[in-house]
Amino acid sequence: MESLIGLVNRIQMACTSLGDYGATNNSFYSLWDQLPSVAVVGGQSSGKSSVLESIVGRDFLPRGSGIVTRRPLVLQLHKTDEGQKEYAEFGHLPRTPFTDFSLVRKEIQDETDRITGKTRQISPVPIHLSIYSPNVVNLTLIDLPGLTKVAVEEQPESVVRDIEDMVRSYVEKPDCIILAISPANQDIATSDAIKLSREVDSTGERTFGVLTKLDLMDKGTNALDVLEGRAYRLQQPWVGIVNRSQADINKNVDMIYARRKEREYFASSPDYGHLASKMGSEYLAKLLSKHLESVIRAKIPGIMSVINKSIDELESEMDHLGRPISDDAGAQLYTILELCRAFDKIFKEHLDGGRPGG
Ligand code: GDP
Ligand code: NA
Ligand code: MG
Repeated sequence: MESLIGLVNRIQMACTSLGDYGATNNSFYSLWDQLPSVAVVGGQSSGKSSVLESIVGRDFLPRGSGIVTRRPLVLQLHKTDEGQKEYAEFGHLPRTPFTDFSLVRKEIQDETDRITGKTRQISPVPIHLSIYSPNVVNLTLIDLPGLTKVAVEEQPESVVRDIEDMVRSYVEKPDCIILAISPANQDIATSDAIKLSREVDSTGERTFGVLTKLDLMDKGTNALDVLEGRAYRLQQPWVGIVNRSQADINKNVDMIYARRKEREYFASSPDYGHLASKMGSEYLAKLLSKHLESVIRAKIPGIMSVINKSIDELESEMDHLGRPISDDAGAQLYTILELCRAFDKIFKEHLDGGRPGG
């Protein structure tokens, strides 16, 4: 049986293409807002890209100074069988597998520029990227522009507000799981991520706190107050992370080695040794996947009723159009109708006691 997270990924892609055709009044499109995914939120240089790459286990995100992420990146991770070759595929380039991840980085940059021009503007139009690999867990993550306090050089003054509004439009959805990234070498009280998450999720029930840069804290201090939930309380656990430093990146330290170093850091730490099994990027990835799966499972009945309603709507829309085989928009509706029928069938199977994680 297809995994629930995989199914939801496909619905999200279908919603995007419906949106592209302006069919946003269809019930199916409204699923977009109700489907849970994980949004990565934090200040510039807080370590968002590093956390994402570490969860994936590959280098593939554009880096640099200033506002690097200028469009949302919807990153869908699909776990494949052991021994399968890793590859990536973009929503805007179907059936074009990328096996060289430096080309993935370049395509993210190019596709960002295609919409925003070279003007370094930001755009809310997401880029869809799927990664198929035996080394990932099933998970959908959305990388968002970093929150910033001041506009830089060529950017208009409004960019600070524009970024905040864009990020808020994702995290204010009640089904959005917030991955709030804060660097350990700054006071948690000043964290942009926590500030925004507190605004939209005041009880902290859908916020996962991630504390990066533990290795950069002043000697003689530690982050136990944060990691043990005393400094800022969340319903979900805090997870501490040690990503690659800039020097590691310059030396091309690979991700697999970096993950091992991170594990060793926690295992041998006098401060965090007792928490070692609940720290690090691999643990974070598993925790998020498990949580996302259970949130989706609880929503199956609601998702099924929307799908049934939209099957009715799509059928009557198709009747209106007649036989739309040559018509692009009609063909798109037809594809989505077929998808809806398939989703309905698989969700029913999951509801009839699909095994967890299945
Ligand atoms: P983003 O702007 O939030 O996406 O942040 P990046 O992931 O690009 O990280 C910004 C800088 O901080 C880079 O030079 C990273 O190497 C560095 N960095 C991120 N996390 C850590 C960490 O846990 N430890 C250390 N030493 N450096 C880190
Ligand atoms: Na932050
Ligand atoms: Mg980044």
